[in-house]
Amino acid sequence: MCPTETKPFDQFIRNANIATMASDKEYGIIEKGCVGIIDGKIAFIGSDLSDYQAKETINANGQWLLPGLIDCHTHLIYGGNRANEFEMRLNGASYEEISKTGGGILSSVTATRAASEQELFVSASKRLEALIAEGVTTIEIKSGYGLDLETELKMLRVAKQLGEQYPIRVIPTFLGAHALPPEFKDDSDGYINLVCEKMIPTVAQEQLANCVDVFCENIGFSYAQTEKVFKAAKEHGLKVKLHAEQLSDQGGAGLVADYQGLSADHIEYLSQESIYKMAKSGTVATLLPGAYYFLRETKLPPIQALRDAGVPIAIATDHNPGTSPCLSVLLMMNMACTLFKMTPLEALQGVTINSAKALGLEDAIGSIEVGKKADLVLWNIEHPNQLSYQFGVTPPLKIIS
Ligand code: NIG
Ligand code: FE
Repeated sequence: MCPTETKPFDQFIRNANIATMASDKEYGIIEKGCVGIIDGKIAFIGSDLSDYQAKETINANGQWLLPGLIDCHTHLIYGGNRANEFEMRLNGASYEEISKTGGGILSSVTATRAASEQELFVSASKRLEALIAEGVTTIEIKSGYGLDLETELKMLRVAKQLGEQYPIRVIPTFLGAHALPPEFKDDSDGYINLVCEKMIPTVAQEQLANCVDVFCENIGFSYAQTEKVFKAAKEHGLKVKLHAEQLSDQGGAGLVADYQGLSADHIEYLSQESIYKMAKSGTVATLLPGAYYFLRETKLPPIQALRDAGVPIAIATDHNPGTSPCLSVLLMMNMACTLFKMTPLEALQGVTINSAKALGLEDAIGSIEVGKKADLVLWNIEHPNQLSYQFGVTPPLKIIS
């Protein structure tokens, strides 16, 4: 194969072991391969060591070239932290009990409302830097600790600013229906009306998010309320996804599939019926081993049934102050293997190509293919399975994008 372009490559990476992670090819390994980049896109992938004309040539010296990692589910922006609740839980209180007595999500809401935009930017920046240092080149960030229009917009503006000021693609999601704010204590339908009639139209108009999420759960919002939010999202041209079946089976994953949603996330209590619906609609199953671990859950997500049905499985940190204060995608890969018995290949697919699918970006990122963005990471490892095998350590890496 020869480059078809007549102009020289902007960058040419040679002598790399490539794991393309293209959908149908497992790791898609090309030994001693090369990649040519023009205008930020992959223009050429070869399997030889030839030197082509390029403005910059990088000799990978046999290191591994992988797609940039994608964290497709995070709540990265919030005020304060919840170490005190961690301690309460270890003294016997459950996550649900803490949530019902005004702690949990609502304590982060109080701290997030009190924080200035600049304070939120600074605290989230530090977290973002930790993920970037691990080879993350795309991150989804949700709102949902404001629960009033002003603070939800403040969070989404911070997400936008992070994407502008850091070398990472930020995909913002509106999660106004995350919990019931104190102002609507006995009126959850009233709050859902506000989300649908005021918040979603404003977020869409200001182009601050391209997707809408809901926490569909006993301690969150009902199936009917979730559907109402999905309808409003669709009316405003926004995609949907869902925190579904984390603590009980509400049928939410089936609903997100009915609305051609991008992903159903958590899904420990997912039913077979919803799995069929997800397979049919192409909805991704996003597994969050950090929250499973931190809440000491024992009900495993139905991995084998998802595999059997051909539902793509993504893995994410779910970084948040309450149930997953974790800033390591690599640790999530390891936990997906140890806790969920996924394979290292599945774990890597979960943070590359399947995570891209969970964001609706599989045509642009998530694998090394001609025409996709040159969103690449060069790892000093001996095989890509090493990324799932080790934990508590980050192999040397270099981001090329
Ligand atoms: O993904 N489940 C709902 N939302 C978060 C938890 C948020 C929090 O406790 O602050 C989650 O686990
Ligand atoms: Fe979450």
